[in-house]
Amino acid sequence: MKILVADYIYTPEGFVEYQAVAFDETIKTVDSLENLLQTYPEAEVVRTAPHSVIYPGFINTHVHLEFSANRTSLEYGSFMPWLDSVIANRDELMQSCDNTMMQQECDNMLRSGITTFGAISSFGTELEVCEQTPQRVVFFNELIGSNAQYADMLYGDFLERVKASQSCPKKSKVTAAVAIHSPYSVHPVILQKAVALAKQHSMPLSSHFLESQAEHEWLEKGEGEFKAFFEKYFNASTPVTNIEEFMHAFDTYPAHFTHAVQATREELAYLQSKGHSIAHCPRSNRYLGCGRLAIETLKELDLPYSVATDGLSSNDSLSIFDEFRAALMLHHQAPLNTLAPQLIKASTQDAAEILGLNCGRIEAGRLADLVVVTLPDLPQSKEEIALWSIIHTKEVAHIYIEGEQIA
Ligand code: BEZ
Ligand code: FE2
Repeated sequence: MKILVADYIYTPEGFVEYQAVAFDETIKTVDSLENLLQTYPEAEVVRTAPHSVIYPGFINTHVHLEFSANRTSLEYGSFMPWLDSVIANRDELMQSCDNTMMQQECDNMLRSGITTFGAISSFGTELEVCEQTPQRVVFFNELIGSNAQYADMLYGDFLERVKASQSCPKKSKVTAAVAIHSPYSVHPVILQKAVALAKQHSMPLSSHFLESQAEHEWLEKGEGEFKAFFEKYFNASTPVTNIEEFMHAFDTYPAHFTHAVQATREELAYLQSKGHSIAHCPRSNRYLGCGRLAIETLKELDLPYSVATDGLSSNDSLSIFDEFRAALMLHHQAPLNTLAPQLIKASTQDAAEILGLNCGRIEAGRLADLVVVTLPDLPQSKEEIALWSIIHTKEVAHIYIEGEQIA
């Protein structure tokens, strides 16, 4: 048993002062140190530095580790030139990305306080790293392929990758999951099969969705920048689906839709009515010229969202605190002291609920995934703790995953 003591603890009821958390693999209780020592006299007591805050480990729901080699190869600024540059550079980027590089990025995420991540995997090449990293990983095997001719072959390859991720030892903390690449790139027949598979095995399910204006235009009108793209690469001149048909494919099983920047209020309301959720990637959206996700609309509609870094293919770091700071800037109209706690909640309890994980909250019975943020000075009120944590944190001070001290 361990007892972690700090000036503040972030609980589902908000920040509590001068308390401590008792835990082994799971959290036992939050109480005063005095009371906890009476119940657990043998426990190891860990005292944190002044102005420290205990948070549940943060959850980055969407990252592409396979693209960790990108620094300046891909073209940022606008979605279609970026996608063209991905196709032109994909093989070289994948080749220069080895296990050492991917493990380094897992370590970077860990130091920023990410104890769980959702790995979107195109080829399965990061499975070994995901098994070995101390973090909890939801391993999203991605299905892609709009051309009916190759669909069965691509689905077969996808099934093999799903099976490999289902065979990871329990101690690796890997959960097998399904990702659909996007509405424009997956044929409806294999889309249906993949959704049915996720439902059958109760696997988390995710999809990129309405990231760019070009995507919306292509799916609704069969026009715009995607027309030339599909003619060039796939000899196709019409989309394989439309927005309504695509959304209906997920009607009976909740999914986590990444981006949704270009979704209308009606489309977002529809997703909410079916129990879905959104992964919000502020820096990726800005760097690819996709616009700003109206998170205030998500709030109004009661549509849950998580915060995610996406990959280094559309970002400059995989730090969750860098992402939070970017979100504060992108959503410049939002009051800082309202937005900051929303981002923290989105990346802890909401993300855990979305991914079906028993972590993300500091309360009895939850997995003891905990991180400690140490503020540089005394906050003037509890209402400011979330904001100061986001503004001042580059690295966390302590990390526990399932009760085990990682740093
Ligand atoms: C497709 O299979 O349609 C596709 C693959 C990669 C990017 C875009 C589309
Ligand atoms: Fe992505």
